[in-house]
Amino acid sequence: MKNLEKIDQELKKIRDEVLNCKKCPLYEYRTKNKFLPVIGEGNHQARIMFIGEAPGLNEAKTGRPFCGAAGKILDELLDTVGIKREEVYITNILKDRPPENRNPKPEEIDAYSPYLLRQYKIIKPKIICTLGNYSTAFILEKFGLAEKIQGISKIHGKIFDTQAIFQSVKIIPFYHPAVATYNPDMKKILKEDFKILEKLSQNFSTE
Ligand code: URA
Repeated sequence: MKNLEKIDQELKKIRDEVLNCKKCPLYEYRTKNKFLPVIGEGNHQARIMFIGEAPGLNEAKTGRPFCGAAGKILDELLDTVGIKREEVYITNILKDRPPENRNPKPEEIDAYSPYLLRQYKIIKPKIICTLGNYSTAFILEKFGLAEKIQGISKIHGKIFDTQAIFQSVKIIPFYHPAVATYNPDMKKILKEDFKILEKLSQNFSTE
């Protein structure tokens, strides 16, 4: 197992780089509004990594991922399957909030996603949970599964096995938890899908 101190150092280096990334397309917007970048948080040796889309207002104010309304739903989902937030690592594709929470632009994904891929390579999770269309399409493409990309309504709750980058990893797409903040029926679907994660994570915990 990689030395935890080294992992912490490598992740801190990413944080420092994002903080000072003047070429990042949302750097100016961040600094003008006195927002913080949102790098990610959780267990630096997590078996499960959650990848959202981009920080919202609460996240940009605090520097913490999923700490607003969508975060409450994510916490509840984790709770229902007995997984502690501290056990997992939670991050986003974009590390800065887009104005008015608009969708990420392709050039923003290009600029910020190398940080996400470095986080993945450092933490080496066995399971990647993508939240919503953007992170699902990005991760499937990067892990050699571009032909599997479909809208989240078609592929949520499915498990994709891949051997890409340096180890085998399971990718599970989920609806973005924010959908359950305005559509309670979606919470039921998310809860069902999280049961798949519960089963998988139990298999991994006995390895
Ligand atoms: N939505 C996201 O995709 N990420 C967050 O951190 C918060 C809301």
